[in-house]
Amino acid sequence: MKKEVDKKRACRLINSGNLILVSCSYKDKDNITTCAWHSPCSHTPACLLVALAKKHLSSELIRKSKEFIINIPSWQLKDKAVFCGSNSGRDIDKFQKAPLTREKALKLSKASKIKECIANIECSLIDIKEIGDHFLFFGEPVYAEVVEGIFDFDNIVWKEEADLLFHFGGKFFAKQGPFIS
Ligand SMILES: Cc1cc2nc3c(=O)[nH]c(=O)nc-3n(C[C@H](O)[C@H](O)[C@H](O)COP(=O)(O)O)c2cc1C
Repeated sequence: MKKEVDKKRACRLINSGNLILVSCSYKDKDNITTCAWHSPCSHTPACLLVALAKKHLSSELIRKSKEFIINIPSWQLKDKAVFCGSNSGRDIDKFQKAPLTREKALKLSKASKIKECIANIECSLIDIKEIGDHFLFFGEPVYAEVVEGIFDFDNIVWKEEADLLFHFGGKFFAKQGPFIS
């Protein structure tokens, strides 16, 4: 037996990926927003997408700067991720209040990376699609890096030591379990 799920909440059935922090900057304003809705979407060119509500400050900054950084937090940054996802950069400086440390990007000129994250992907904006109340921002990775020892470069997969942070919606999170291959 299966039970019907409200179709407007069907997203929660696939909303189980690792959480990311998107950082972006334009002129004298920089910001961090927490994002559960994201995905790889092309190999050639390499392209990653993040879905951000139109009303977010981050959406405005990315539209203007044409770049963003995907920062990957481990489980230990959960509270900071919730903080960055519960406050708008219109009201506070999230780098300062979280606090999280700005680090200069290697290839991008405006956005700052988040030092405490275990990996960072610098993305150059290649397209934007409007869909309902969100923008889909498509970014081509121009530089990516990961903390040593937590990524298997032979198989191109995370190692268990990464201890990734997953989000299932609302206040429900999960810690990375053991890997099985
Ligand atoms: C765990 C979590 C996941 C979130 N995922 C998304 C998301 O995928 N897309 C989105 O637009 N907002 C998401 N949010 C909400 C934004 O992060 C939040 O509204 C944020 O305050 C917007 O900040 P800004 O106005 O400074 O850009 C999430 C929030 C939390 C706590």
